[in-house]
Amino acid sequence: MTDGELMMLAQRAREHSYSPYSGFCVGAALLTKSGRVYLGCNIENAGYSATNCAERTAIFKAVSEGEREFEAIAIVGGRRGETAPLTAPCGVCRQVLSEFCPEDFKILLGDPQKYYTYTLKSLLPLSFGAKDL
Ligand code: THU
Repeated sequence: MTDGELMMLAQRAREHSYSPYSGFCVGAALLTKSGRVYLGCNIENAGYSATNCAERTAIFKAVSEGEREFEAIAIVGGRRGETAPLTAPCGVCRQVLSEFCPEDFKILLGDPQKYYTYTLKSLLPLSFGAKDL
């Protein structure tokens, strides 16, 4: 699985976005160390805080199916029908990723034609989780 392929899968995952309130559709594709890919989209709610971001949808799907080791995630977002140059994960999603992913976990942001590679550590320099207990 190349980074570009993972970005294309994130783009495709956007098709299931349920975002009637913001009109902003996000897709995520999470690659496990074993080579499987879990897709996620944002799922909004009339009680706004109950919204689940695409990244958390993907990681919760994966963990709930027994996956614990992750390599990379690709994230693609934008207003319906458009792709934003870059959609950055929110703080809650960074924290959830940090529970399961190593510092060098790759985060691919942008659109499938032009994307940028970050590490989890670069987006969440100081974190605390079970690994620190
Ligand atoms: N959103 C995501 O799903 N992931 C991100 O990385 C950024 C934001 C969602 C939450 C909400 O449904 C919409 O995008 C607007 O913030």
